[in-house]
Amino acid sequence: MDISNLKKAIDQEIAGVKTEDDVFAFHQKFLSKSGEITKLMAGIKDIAPEKRGEFGKTCNAIKQDTETRLFKIQDEIKAVALREKLMSDPLVDITIPRLNTKRGTLHPITIVTRDVEEVLERMGFIVEEGNEIATEFENFESINIPKHHPARDMQDTFWLSDGRVLRTHTSMWQNYMMKKYGPSFRAICPGRCFRNEATDATHENTFFQVEGMMVGKDISIANLLYFMKEITTALLKRDDIEVRLRPSYFPFTEPSFEMDATCVFCDGKGCPICKHSGWIELFPCGMIHPRVLEMGGINPKEYRGFAFGFGLTRLAMLRWGIKDIRMFNSGNLDFLAGVTK
Ligand code: DAH
Repeated sequence: MDISNLKKAIDQEIAGVKTEDDVFAFHQKFLSKSGEITKLMAGIKDIAPEKRGEFGKTCNAIKQDTETRLFKIQDEIKAVALREKLMSDPLVDITIPRLNTKRGTLHPITIVTRDVEEVLERMGFIVEEGNEIATEFENFESINIPKHHPARDMQDTFWLSDGRVLRTHTSMWQNYMMKKYGPSFRAICPGRCFRNEATDATHENTFFQVEGMMVGKDISIANLLYFMKEITTALLKRDDIEVRLRPSYFPFTEPSFEMDATCVFCDGKGCPICKHSGWIELFPCGMIHPRVLEMGGINPKEYRGFAFGFGLTRLAMLRWGIKDIRMFNSGNLDFLAGVTK
């Protein structure tokens, strides 16, 4: 057999190797002392001396390649046979996890996100997912932050070369939610946000927020306060939490507030975490600005709504007493698995 016929024969026959017997037969036919490859190599004496080097290399390559392929198939056959043997043994359960193996855990952010989703779904909120890349209109204009508005400076932005941005907050999803579900609805949109910031223990360039909004007829600050308190109570898993609203400013809400809750670390007595005030700042929120409603296709004379947007990362830090925000994206498995235990 010449080289090209031999290669063809090998390819054809190796495809049919399915059992240990096939492996043996194939080995005999091609790789053994009397096999075809050996025969081919023996023919070297009939080759012109200057071509022998080349010929020898080709033969060796074919031999090595064929051996590698055959042994791989043999390993697979062995593994299947072993598996079948174990599966049919009534005393062996191959699904039991190995002892002392490290098992994965949910990331702290995943845990708080699921908690928030569960609590808000129970209150009738739809859960939406938003894009992480936003147009300038979505991230700023659609929520009443026009060009040159000083509020743009509050959020250092990653700009893409095509003029779009990595969303700086989940508020950019308000416009989409109003257009999709308006004029009466409750929805939240959790997700990753980005800011072009130097990182330290309390600043990250990548963090998680959740945006929530409720729009309908006769929605008032009383509704906002009720929902904020319910959500806080459910998330902190305590029913002795007091909340209060402090005036604040956001371009997309009017009036705007910061909602504080009783400090969970000292029960309101005052401690270093709440800077001895007894309160911790939890949710920025407010009544949706009429212009924002209008841009979402909702008539502000007929409908009103409230919005809130809070840091899931911050919530996780409060829940597990995590002092350094950079740990979340650190990939440090010991920390990530241990902190939520
Ligand atoms: N988007 C704001 C931020 O990232 C947070 C926020 C404040 C969202 C007030 C709201 C709101 O919906 O009403 O800083």
